[in-house]
Amino acid sequence: MRRRFALLAAVVLSFGGGALLASCGDDGGSDGASVVLSAAGERGKVVAQAQGCISCHTVDGAKSTGPTWKDLAGSERMLEGGETVVADDAYLRTAIVAPRGQVLEGYPNIMPVYDGEVSEAELADLIAYLRDLSSLTAAASPGGTGAPAGG
Ligand code: HEC
Repeated sequence: MRRRFALLAAVVLSFGGGALLASCGDDGGSDGASVVLSAAGERGKVVAQAQGCISCHTVDGAKSTGPTWKDLAGSERMLEGGETVVADDAYLRTAIVAPRGQVLEGYPNIMPVYDGEVSEAELADLIAYLRDLSSLTAAASPGGTGAPAGG
């Protein structure tokens, strides 16, 4: 089992490098890694590594077992059944602590339930990290929960 994990890690690492070369098609932007993180975002990144989130999620736009975190926050997501929602803080929170009832279209319902696994502070840091990784939330007011009630 342990050897298998090491092999998987090696495959993931080498694939990651190859994917960078292979997948930057049209607009030649290959600097997906150079995101400036807030202090909370830096902490969220550490939590994501410690909790193993990044074994299923990438931050560079590449699809993995789960969707990439790049430009996720603030974007429109289509859920299983066809409902479309905006990935605001409340959506992201539910996606992490209660993912069973909110499944992204086209993905298996295998996201682990992190309710009780991450503290409130860690959850807030994870959400800050997701926001930092998205260009769609860059202009949002810091500190405000301010999502206007949408219809
Ligand atoms: C075993 C693989 C796996 C792990 C580990 C995992 N996820 Fe996921 N995650 C998924 C899959 C698959 C989906 C899409 C299905 C769904 O919506 O539940 C998803 C969906 C999400 C979404 C919603 C994405 C969207 O595009 O709307 C967020 C946010 C998220 N995960 C965050 C996390 C965080 C934070 C962690 C670690 C604390 C984590 N995930 C760990 C597999 C995983």
